[in-house]
Amino acid sequence: MNRLIHRPKVKNMKFQAPKGTRDFYPEDMAARNWIMEIWRRVSLRNGFEEYDGPIFELLDLYKAKSGEGIVSELFHFEDRGGRELAIRPEMTPTLARMIAARANSLSRPIKWFSLPRLCRAERPQRGRLREFFQWNIDVVGIDDVVSDAECILVAIDFFREVGLTPDDVVMKVNSRSLLSSLLAAQGFEKQRHEEIFAVLDKRDKLSWEAFVETVEKVSRDGEEKTTLLSIGQAAGPEGLAGLTEMAKENAAAEAELDRLRQLLALLTSMGVGEYCRFDMGVVRGLAYYTGVVFEAFGKGEFQRAICGGGRYGRLLEAVGGPPMSGIGFGTSDVVILTLLAELNRLPAEATKARRVDLFLIDADPSLFDEVLALAARLRRIGLAAEFSYRRQALGKQLKQASACSASRAVIVGSEYTQRQAVSVKDLASGEQVEIGVDRFLANPHGWPWSDSD
Ligand code: HAM
Repeated sequence: MNRLIHRPKVKNMKFQAPKGTRDFYPEDMAARNWIMEIWRRVSLRNGFEEYDGPIFELLDLYKAKSGEGIVSELFHFEDRGGRELAIRPEMTPTLARMIAARANSLSRPIKWFSLPRLCRAERPQRGRLREFFQWNIDVVGIDDVVSDAECILVAIDFFREVGLTPDDVVMKVNSRSLLSSLLAAQGFEKQRHEEIFAVLDKRDKLSWEAFVETVEKVSRDGEEKTTLLSIGQAAGPEGLAGLTEMAKENAAAEAELDRLRQLLALLTSMGVGEYCRFDMGVVRGLAYYTGVVFEAFGKGEFQRAICGGGRYGRLLEAVGGPPMSGIGFGTSDVVILTLLAELNRLPAEATKARRVDLFLIDADPSLFDEVLALAARLRRIGLAAEFSYRRQALGKQLKQASACSASRAVIVGSEYTQRQAVSVKDLASGEQVEIGVDRFLANPHGWPWSDSD
């Protein structure tokens, strides 16, 4: 017997959603749609086109490209043909694969966005789950500092849209190529850089003592340790000034510093400078980043990374495409909704699962057919028109109308039989007006309908 279709032995077993996943009951679904709609709106107004890919890929795509962190968290399986596959833990390798396949026919810069459902076998915790939706923004086919700035601008455009201010979040900006050139200038061999990146990226994730200990482990002597600690701590304008000293007379490091300064200046010109801060403590975990890297963090209670990205200069080549550079970022529904809920900034509309514009009421059960006919006509012209399944007293129907947050009730009563009119009641103010059915249908939003309507 196929082991996948065996019957469980226990009768009437209770099942729960798997660890780290969510059931989306209507109000949760409303919140998910609310954030997805904002992501789509922000992407489109910034000039990005939507794409998607398969929810699983060949395991090798991630093994080769994403780096240790993500590979250790993969949900992977073998198909019946013995192929090793993995559920997508991130979108960037898929994006690179898709663009590489059509690199010659796509006009550049390629500005694409996506809203994939992703899975990572992480330990679930506040703001981190095993299944989540991630908004991805990427600009591919150009290595220009303006595209670095534009990506960061889009992330901040979204923060503003959901009411996150510079008091709530900080976008930390750094550059791996700057770090590399500084390390090289200080005599650290190239083959040691990756290991040092991983250590410096831990600065804010470990206690200071633990961080110093980790730095010590990758240092060959006290001098190296001092250099790494001073590079790793550099942040803000003072930090940048310190590095300028360190980069002096090293053309590569000076050029990288120049580019970073240009980026910060562009962000200021774009009006988002107050969100951004240079910080060497952000190096990012993914293996494919080569240039600018950035990560946004909550500033209050929720100090976790809420959005992260960077420039990947060689990823397209690594998946068989032409040399093409790209930059992008990801952020998820889980972190953003957690942050907004903790700040008490989730608007009521975000969890409103049902929209009812009008609730139709029969003042007499004999008029129920008229209620149904009117509801059907209103729905055809785009209004969310509801009615009660049960025939009950007018007061009870009115209560039902308020319970489903309808803005108005339309009462079909004797005025309907006498003069083809209905009474429309505003449920917030209690005010009621009578209006002819034809006039009402011609302009159902015209409340309170003056004579000139
Ligand atoms: P990442 O730093 O792995 O980068 O993830 C980016 C964002 O996705 C995180 O800042 C967080 O908001 C969200 N995220 C990651 N893991 C989880 C999780 N387990 N639960 C909830 N949210 C999570 C990337 O994925 C890159 N591929 C982003 C990118 C796009 N780089 C260039 N283009």
